[in-house]
Amino acid sequence: MGPEGIKPNEDQKAAILYNGKAPLFITAVPGSGKTRVLLWRTVHLIVGKRISPDWIFLSTFTEKAAHQLKEGLKELLGSAANFTGEKYDLARMYVGTIHSNCRGVC
Ligand SMILES: Nc1ncnc2c1ncn2[C@@H]1O[C@H](COP(=O)(O)OP(=O)(O)OP(=O)(O)O)[C@@H](O)[C@H]1O
Ligand SMILES: [Mg+2]
Repeated sequence: MGPEGIKPNEDQKAAILYNGKAPLFITAVPGSGKTRVLLWRTVHLIVGKRISPDWIFLSTFTEKAAHQLKEGLKELLGSAANFTGEKYDLARMYVGTIHSNCRGVC
């Protein structure tokens, strides 16, 4: 299933919209939707909070999750752009595995 048709559950919603001062730390069992929360939260920050993608450093451990995020962002931000008329440029956003991101910035 692509990222568009599914909706966050209540716990995911709380994590996506979290706006507190302390860093947000999420633990959850394998396959429970953590990477999906990262994806939705990133879209929320860019589209909802109008944070520029180049302010965001988005890292995961595995290539699979990094791929999930990149593809999901392209799809969801593409759809959002149809509604908002904005162009979301991901070219300068750090999104990838922690290893590839560090190679780019460290
Ligand atoms: N609210 C939801 N409704 C329907 N499907 C969901 C929801 N949240 C996540 N999923 C689906 O469940 C699967 C696992 O989600 P995800 O990869 O985000 O979990 P994860 O906790 O990161 O897993 P892992 O521990 O393997 O990294 C994915 O196919 C995802 O699309
Ligand atoms: Mg994951």
